[in-house]
Order: sequence, then C-alpha cells, then structure tokens
Amino acid sequence: MPVEVANNIYNVGVIDWNIRDFHGYSTDLGSTYNAFLIMDEKITLVDTVKHGFEDQLLRNISAIVDPKKIDRVISNHTEMDHSGGLPRIMHYIGETKPVYCSKMGFKNLSLHYAGKLNLQAVENGQEMSLGSRTLSFLETRMLHWPDSMFTYCKEDELLFSSDAFGQHYAGYEMFDDVVGDAIMPYAKKYFANILLLYAPLILKLVEQVTQMGLKIKTICPDHGIIWRKDPSKIIRAYVDWSNQIPLNKALVIYDTMWHSTEHMAETISDAIAAKGVDVKPIHIRSTHRSDIMTQVLDAKAIVIGSPTLNNGLYPTVSDLLTYMKGLKPKNKIGAAFGSYGWSGEAVKLIQQELAAMNFSLIEPGLRIQYVPDKTGMAACVEFAEKIAAAIQGK
Ligand code: FEO
Repeated sequence: MPVEVANNIYNVGVIDWNIRDFHGYSTDLGSTYNAFLIMDEKITLVDTVKHGFEDQLLRNISAIVDPKKIDRVISNHTEMDHSGGLPRIMHYIGETKPVYCSKMGFKNLSLHYAGKLNLQAVENGQEMSLGSRTLSFLETRMLHWPDSMFTYCKEDELLFSSDAFGQHYAGYEMFDDVVGDAIMPYAKKYFANILLLYAPLILKLVEQVTQMGLKIKTICPDHGIIWRKDPSKIIRAYVDWSNQIPLNKALVIYDTMWHSTEHMAETISDAIAAKGVDVKPIHIRSTHRSDIMTQVLDAKAIVIGSPTLNNGLYPTVSDLLTYMKGLKPKNKIGAAFGSYGWSGEAVKLIQQELAAMNFSLIEPGLRIQYVPDKTGMAACVEFAEKIAAAIQGK
C-alpha cells in the first residue's frame, strides 16, 4: 500500500513480515524495503526492493501510476535487498530507461548485472531536474557500501538516505510521529550491527552536511519508518552512538559447558553489582549476537567467559568475538575468564581477541580448573572488583 511521505512523493516499498535473519542479524518483527516514487514531469523511482518482492512493488506503484510511465530509476547503493529487484523492474518498465547511480555504483551494478541495465553514473554534487524538483547526489562511500550515496530533494528538503537512519522494523505505522520513541531501540540495534564500524565516517559526514547547510525536513531511509516530525533526533542519536562514549555499565557475556563458567559469570556479575556498577550477565545461547551487540554499543566493560573446548574457544564465544571484532567497538575495558579441564587456552585466546579490538585489558585473566571452589569464588570476586574499579576510574 503506497504511503505519501511528501507532496507527490510516495513510499511504494514493501513490508517483509517474515524475515527473521538478515545476514546474521535477528529481525524479530521483519523489515521493510522502502522504495520511493516521485511524481513529477520526469517520474522517478528511488531504489527498488529485494528479489521476490517485485510484484508487490509494481502493485504499489500501480496504485499511483502505470509503472511503465516511470522515466528513470535511482539506485542509492548496490545491495540485494534494494537492487535485487532492479533487473525485473527495469525489464517491466523498459530496459533502455536510465538507472542513475554513483560511479562506484556503476561498477558494482555492472558486476552484478553485466550489460543488462542502462547505467548512468552521477558525480558527487551533481544536480538533476525532474521538472518542478531538483535532485542532487551526495556520495557517502562506505556508509555502508563503497557505492553508497544519498539523494536529496531541495524543494521538499527531503533526504533519501539509503540504509542510513534505517531500522529493521515492520509495521503499518510508517512515521516517527506515529511510532514515537518505541522506534529508537530498533534504530540503535541497526546502528550497532550495520554502521558501528563506520562511526568515524558518520561523524565526518554529519559535519560535512552541517557545513553545506543542507536543510532536512524529512529523512526517508530504505528500511523502517520515515523521519518527518523530528529528523534531527536520529541525526543526534547517530552522533552520540558514533562518539561511543560508554556508560558505566558492564556486560558479562559467556557460554558454559558444565556450568562452572556460568558459576564464575554469576559470581563476577554479583560482585560487580555489589560495587554499584550496572552489570548484566548474558548467556550467549539465550541472546542473539545482534542483540548482544546492541548492548555492547554503550557498555564500558566487556567481560567474556568461555570454557576451553578442544584446546580452543567454545564455538559460540568464537562466533561472538568474530562478529564483535568486525564491528570495531571502541573505548572499552576487556576481561576474560573461564573454567577449564586440562589445557585451558580459552582465556588467553579471548584476551588476544579483545587486545585486537584495542580494549584496555584487565590482566591477568581468570582461569579456574574444573569446578570453582571457595577459593575460586573468592578469586572471581577479586577479579570483579578490579573490573568495577576500572569502570569507576579508581
Ligand atoms: Fe539495506 Fe545495504 O542494504
């Protein structure tokens, strides 16, 4: 069902109610693939949808205009959830019609769809008249793909922001003023799992846009709700999240084989809490990695526990560390602990990963053989007190 987001500009995208795993990110409500139809002298479609949803997109467009009357398409970046539907949409509306994209987009779309599309590269800053409106293009390389760009409509003060400022949220409520603050946890999770590693670029981009004096009344991302009431709210949140100033909060994230590492995790958590620090124990198999990552975003201490299995890390711990390292969280204290049977490499391996993320390590890590006894529990308390003191800057 198309929704008007500004005068004669419609969200004709689709809701994917059933997706629950978006390349390793849990999407509990599903998501949307937003696409925007601009009705002007040159009828323009900004982005398409994931392959398999093209018919829904065409139906939504048809409620406004015959899709064959679309004159041009803009592809803000080449990822399959937005560009997967391009070949079929262009086949339907006319393959000779231009698909405008960034210079990197030209390269990337060519690598996906060699020769099938009439690709036209636009320059950074280039303007394009649609009749009563003028669009301009702003390259946003690596936010979050090499070819990403924003498309801006100056008459409507409207930014088509591609993946930036999006959320994996599915609902009939499509605007910030309708959903209210309930959208922010979805926006935060999206940032923590998709954009965190590009935080320095986000800060530069916000500065650049501020210097350009770009007026933004509405932000239309490619996923989730449209920001029309207060777009500055999500921009401010992006600046805060990008600065990564942590709260005095610890996460004790662990897996366990025969409950010994779990007993250590609970004792460490209790002792950190007893020092007045906000702390949360997280069993990795009870919380999806993408939800853990959302909590990592503003935590100060990341305490990781793993048993040693086959001379290595427990596989779930390894999975989480690999995922976290890729997202490049900053300004963290790190600590490692775990129970072991005979070789006990896990703690050292965790520390290596935390050091690779430039975390400030609490050393030494804490290893306990087999089941922690009274002395082992006391060691956990002492370890926790060191972590709490580091969080509190003591
Ligand atoms: Fe929503 Fe980068 O695709």
